[in-house]
Amino acid sequence: MTVAVRYYTKTGNTRRLAEAIAKAVNAEALPISVPVDERADILFLGNSYYAFTIDPEVRDFVRSLDKDKVGRIVNFGSAAMLNSTYRKVKAEADKAGIPMDEREFHCKGEFKGIHKGRPNEEDLKAAAAFARKIME
Ligand SMILES: Cc1cc2nc3c(=O)[nH]c(=O)nc-3n(C[C@H](O)[C@H](O)[C@H](O)COP(=O)(O)O)c2cc1C
Repeated sequence: MTVAVRYYTKTGNTRRLAEAIAKAVNAEALPISVPVDERADILFLGNSYYAFTIDPEVRDFVRSLDKDKVGRIVNFGSAAMLNSTYRKVKAEADKAGIPMDEREFHCKGEFKGIHKGRPNEEDLKAAAAFARKIME
């Protein structure tokens, strides 16, 4: 099974999750500015909420994915208040014709003094375990 990891981050939280996931599945964590050129049966995609929605860069990245190259998207993130960007990402994935895995990883992420230190070591371990499970 081929795998790719991409993330969008503003304050580093999603990058840390992406690096834990990438290490667990023997891939490289890359920002979404790097296009998915090689076939990826699974694309782990890290993203978060900013002012109640996903960043336009994430939206454009998902829309631009090639359905012949990406088998399915596995969503992960660390929004601080809201739980999951799943539906927002899925709306774009649907446009690109790429299925979303129903499973996703979410933990709280530090934002303006709340959820201090998160994702923490436990979160990173849980993200890695989640990724390994997806690859089974
Ligand atoms: C400008 C900005 C706006 C945010 N807006 C929201 C929001 O509307 N809802 C929410 O749950 N979290 C919000 N957050 C919190 C982030 O989603 C959370 O801190 C996340 O872990 C950030 O990931 P990053 O460090 O990879 O950018 C916001 C963070 C920033 C920096």
